[in-house]
Amino acid sequence: MKIAVLGCGTVGSGVVDILDKKPCLMEKSAGEEIGVKYILDIRDFSGSPYASRIVNDIDIIAEDPEIGVVVETMGGVEPAFTFCKKCLEKGKSVVSSNKALVAAKAQELFAAAKESNASFMFEASVCGGIPVIRTMFSSLSANKILSFHGILNGTTNFILTKMIDEKMSFDTALKIAQEKGYAEKDPTADVDGIDAARKTAILSSIAYGHHFFEDEIHTEGIRGVTLEDAAYADSYNCRIKLLGKADSRNNGKIGAIVCPFFVGNDSMISGVNGVYNAISITGDSIGDVLLYGQGAGKEATASAVVGDVMECVRLKKNEKHYFWENHEDGIVEDYLEYETALYVRGYAKNPGDSLINIREAFGGVKVLERKGAPGNEIAFITPVMKEKELREILSDLKDFASASVIRVL
Ligand code: HSE
Repeated sequence: MKIAVLGCGTVGSGVVDILDKKPCLMEKSAGEEIGVKYILDIRDFSGSPYASRIVNDIDIIAEDPEIGVVVETMGGVEPAFTFCKKCLEKGKSVVSSNKALVAAKAQELFAAAKESNASFMFEASVCGGIPVIRTMFSSLSANKILSFHGILNGTTNFILTKMIDEKMSFDTALKIAQEKGYAEKDPTADVDGIDAARKTAILSSIAYGHHFFEDEIHTEGIRGVTLEDAAYADSYNCRIKLLGKADSRNNGKIGAIVCPFFVGNDSMISGVNGVYNAISITGDSIGDVLLYGQGAGKEATASAVVGDVMECVRLKKNEKHYFWENHEDGIVEDYLEYETALYVRGYAKNPGDSLINIREAFGGVKVLERKGAPGNEIAFITPVMKEKELREILSDLKDFASASVIRVL
């Protein structure tokens, strides 16, 4: 079968390289040879091994009956959506690594795939090489997914690891992440949690069968996390991790949030460092499952894309249909209704008096200490309560200005 690759950037070129170099993959695709016939890209590739296959017109791909699977690694919603839809309507299966596209447009692409008996697959859109989509959708399908939480963004995990282990400032760690090519020049999508929110939206859609949009998920990034917070986390036997988290709640609603958490060192997730990702899924039959691996990078992500391509080739006559439905308004729980404990760091003119007030207001807190803290700094862990109540108590505290608030997992 011949395939086409839309977008020859890091992941797209990784896909072409794997398919060019590994003819042994034929055995895994039911003996059928998979070759890249076209690469759609507007950049100049003259002199590269891709040059003879570069095209600029999507119609060349959509109209070629030899093309069975189209790989979309362009990123962004448009023109990726228009191109993918066109190819699906022509009966070609589409494999995408593009989380922005899946988080915004999956349902329309599922419908187009179903209409023409093709498949739309997107394993690489969440956590690069880690096989979480198929695991959640197929392997765990006997389970009600009670909850999942995970480190879904490698760049922020790299930055937090540098801050915690090497006492590096956020700005220095970000600079290194950019030098190493993990973070973009404009790091907003990673550091502000947007990338993790898209991945949380996709995983929530699979877990709970309704389309969750990224803007329905309360999202906080890591720009506000400081070395002081990391030191207090350490004193409480925790590490700070940016997590995407969702759960099915007793009232029938779904809670979903992306934010930094204090994660206890007894949790396997707290030991996942650098650019690595991990997802812990809890099902009602299986209990806990932990998936760990490289959530980004050329080869890891291309590995997931090529896995989907081969699945499409194997399934040629028996197309695979992922799906989820719309949900009614109000299914997503307001994050202020969750019960949680909060870590709070702040400053008071009279710390002794303020601590008495704080203890009384919360009905007891765990006071934290760190070496070198200024005399007017107070840090503590609240009891577990609805976040709304905790925030109200916090804002009513007199003579105490909070500088940092982080949820405790
Ligand atoms: N920028 C993402 C990360 C990789 O750092 O995890 C692509 O999703």
